[in-house]
Amino acid sequence: SDHDHHDGDDDHELRVSKIRDGTVIDHVRGGQALNVLAILGIDGTDGEEVSVGMNVPSNRFARKDIVKVEGRELSQDEVDVLSLIAPDATINIVRDYDVVEKHRVERPDVVEGVLSCPNAGCITTGDEPVTSRFTVLEDGVRCSYCERIVREEIASLIDT
Ligand code: CTP
Ligand code: ZN
Repeated sequence: SDHDHHDGDDDHELRVSKIRDGTVIDHVRGGQALNVLAILGIDGTDGEEVSVGMNVPSNRFARKDIVKVEGRELSQDEVDVLSLIAPDATINIVRDYDVVEKHRVERPDVVEGVLSCPNAGCITTGDEPVTSRFTVLEDGVRCSYCERIVREEIASLIDT
């Protein structure tokens, strides 16, 4: 390896192959990789080339998940929702095997049009075309229309 790795993924112990072009979502909280895939709308049926590592050793945290998506870059909306379930994640853009861009996700103040309210009586879930809007809290999200708060299971609110 040509530089120091600190996550125990030197070439000789790399668990998930390097990708050529695409996005590596690294330092995902252990156990959240499948939710990351759900947020990205990836279920494998479109032939997407994806590698997933779950609960692999990491120095920053005891264990981490990692998701590598070949041939795809993420939208800001997707990164915003990712930040809710993987607040410490790093987004690495890879081109021709090199990491050309790396940034930490940031929790937005508000997410619009990405999550759907679990409240069946909420105006955003009726027939009217009202775009969902949630305020991001320390420990969850709050619907701006009906004030419903969701703490766990944010991934289950993802509009697919
Ligand atoms: N990676 C990859 N394919 C590449 C290049 C990098 O899958 N062609 C992965 C690495 O395995 C690592 C992540 O992308 O999980 C970030 O790569 P790099 O910045 O080289 O690693 P670190 O320095 O360990 O990253 P950090 O400091 O963010 O932990
Ligand atoms: Zn609502």
